[in-house]
Amino acid sequence: MSLIETIRNYSVPRGSVATWWLGQNGFIFKTPEGTLLSIDLYLSDSAKRLYPDLPINLERQVPIFIQPPDLVTDVYACTHSHVDHADPDTISNLRNKDTMQFVGPSFTCGIYRDLGVEDSRIHHLWPQQEMEFKDVKLRGTFALPTDETDLNHMGYLLTFGDKLRIYMTGDTDYSELLASVAGDSPDVLITCINGNFNNLSHWEAAGLAKLVRPKVAVPCHYDMFPDNAIDPKQFRASLKLRAPDTAYLELPHAEPHLFSF
Ligand SMILES: [Fe+2]
Repeated sequence: MSLIETIRNYSVPRGSVATWWLGQNGFIFKTPEGTLLSIDLYLSDSAKRLYPDLPINLERQVPIFIQPPDLVTDVYACTHSHVDHADPDTISNLRNKDTMQFVGPSFTCGIYRDLGVEDSRIHHLWPQQEMEFKDVKLRGTFALPTDETDLNHMGYLLTFGDKLRIYMTGDTDYSELLASVAGDSPDVLITCINGNFNNLSHWEAAGLAKLVRPKVAVPCHYDMFPDNAIDPKQFRASLKLRAPDTAYLELPHAEPHLFSF
């Protein structure tokens, strides 16, 4: 059975949210009501295709678990417009665009529009603004740009069933303002740890965990490109030193993980 069929057939127990990590910052969440939310799905090799002259190896290392035409999701969200997040080769090849809601910060919404998404399906979100879709809430959170090509980065605070809160940093440079979500007591932190190209390092991500105090911290954005990879165990070590009350959770690719509340 293909992964998307597995996800569609997967029955999520009440009081839980199922999570699949597809590499880099790409996740799919499924609620007990069956609502599907995707974030930053990178389902192509567009970085290599679009930047052949960059002197870094951008060949994807993670399999494409879902072909874009097969993707089914209710909400398609992105944190910013870089191609490993709002991937043009994924978005332009979606067959089911007409049944999805597209969410993102302003510059990313322009990318959706340019790639043929109808205006009525595009929802512009910004930090501290919230959108609700069935049993999922998405609130934009503060994030710093990592280069001048997109000055509209954002993270998300996701709330499932009014209880479980997942804070996803997205790509961001470090600032103590990232911890402004601490007042919402996120249960889970999903954070970049690669440290390259102005992203949070594993040490900075652990410092953020110290301020936000999630029960669990999940590293991401370390696996996709050979020249932008680190060993996630370094984050585990940093977390033990800086936020020992937060549990380390390394997700395998394309396997369901249930967070319960
Ligand atoms: Fe990225």
